Amino acid sequence: MAMSHPSPSIRSLTGITTSGTPHLGNYVGAIRPAVAASREPDVEAFYFLADLHSLIKVQEPARVQRSTLEIAAAWLACGLDPQRVWFYRQSDIPEISELTWLLTCVAGKGLLNRAHAYKAAVDRNRAESLDEDAGVSAGLFMYPVLMSADILMFNAHRVPVGRDQVQHIEMARDIGQRFNHVYGEGLFTLPEAAIEEQVATLPGLDGRKMSKSYDNTIPLFAPRESLRQLINGIVTDSRLPGEPKDTEGSPLFQIYQAFASPAETETMRRAYAEGIGWGEAKRLLFERLDTEIAPLRERYEALMAQPAEIERTLREGAARVRQKYATPVMARLRQAVGLRDLSEGNGASGAAGGATAEAQALSKRAAQEEAALPRFKQYREKDGRFYFKLHDGAGRLLVQSQGFDSPRDAGDLIAVLRGVEAADAMETPEIELAVPAEEVLAALARLRAAEAEAGLED
Ligand code: TRP
Repeated sequence: MAMSHPSPSIRSLTGITTSGTPHLGNYVGAIRPAVAASREPDVEAFYFLADLHSLIKVQEPARVQRSTLEIAAAWLACGLDPQRVWFYRQSDIPEISELTWLLTCVAGKGLLNRAHAYKAAVDRNRAESLDEDAGVSAGLFMYPVLMSADILMFNAHRVPVGRDQVQHIEMARDIGQRFNHVYGEGLFTLPEAAIEEQVATLPGLDGRKMSKSYDNTIPLFAPRESLRQLINGIVTDSRLPGEPKDTEGSPLFQIYQAFASPAETETMRRAYAEGIGWGEAKRLLFERLDTEIAPLRERYEALMAQPAEIERTLREGAARVRQKYATPVMARLRQAVGLRDLSEGNGASGAAGGATAEAQALSKRAAQEEAALPRFKQYREKDGRFYFKLHDGAGRLLVQSQGFDSPRDAGDLIAVLRGVEAADAMETPEIELAVPAEEVLAALARLRAAEAEAGLED
């Protein structure tokens, strides 16, 4: 089936751990912004169900299956279009597990010792005077390596994640860099985290952040009447109808705001000041929520009634993404580390030996050329703003950007520079050219050509 990625220049990839039932907080914080982003032009987006990751936490087979189904149905119901983005299940791509091992063999154990999730487990054990590693599976310890394989397999440029995941992206960079260093520069693209700063975290029923671990969630697709009842259970203060209410710190108001337009939010703010009763405010919140959710809920229920359809969608997604990426990338990596056809190269003699010596010389030259490719580097300065530079293969500065408010903005301009319309960006005040524009454009063209040749671009 033809994919309709519009001139993809940036690959953006994110995983969704399949533990639990999607709730309103997931919708506002992850699903809704991701579905919106997946419709942007010039981004080739990857969304996958991280079911291998879920095994670290969930060891009840029925729950793993149920959660995978619910989360897949939720994303599809909320408008993710599997014809437009890569949508697949991690465990359907065996190459990811295979790559995990290759990365395991270059990942420093010391690096993994510093992972927040592992360190937190060790600290808890120490606090209780237990053995440091009590109850810690090797899977928890290896979590960052599996996640690196998810990302590096597809040479993702950008990984949209919450703050808690930033360290994992840095580890993926470290591990990718180390692999490149050992086996050949350019084998992996080093990813950048794109932190979603502006998406609000939603409060739950008790006013703390909505989270499964606080047991204060509102399931995204609770049936209409349950939704009404759950909303009636949101904490409020004891002010009576007629008494002015504070919007600040009111979970009811914050949830309303996450769904309402600015004008509707203003009207609600006035109603609070004018002493709206809590019962009435809850009714309005319910109506507003249900207006947005009802059509999604209907699609969700239809999808949940057809699990075989979802299964098919996921398998098709996996088959396509394997064909285009995982299979050729893994073949290249096997070659790079020496998991090779024994009749090739090295020991062989005679005519065949001659031919492969030539092939080796060629691939060595290719590796050198790749090593000398120009590179973008994104970073953050003390002023809190986001910058990037472009260097040529020898490390000479070609382009220096101004500061951007978000990594996203910096990434967007990099996407333009990496694309076929790079020339249009030569005059923008957002970058300063350290060399003449023709030289910058030549470097960018080389980068594009190398990537196209590596088969990593359309
Ligand atoms: N660890 C991520 C989370 O808990 C999920 C995840 C798995 C992921 N693999 C990934 C996110 C790769 C981004 C990229 O949210």
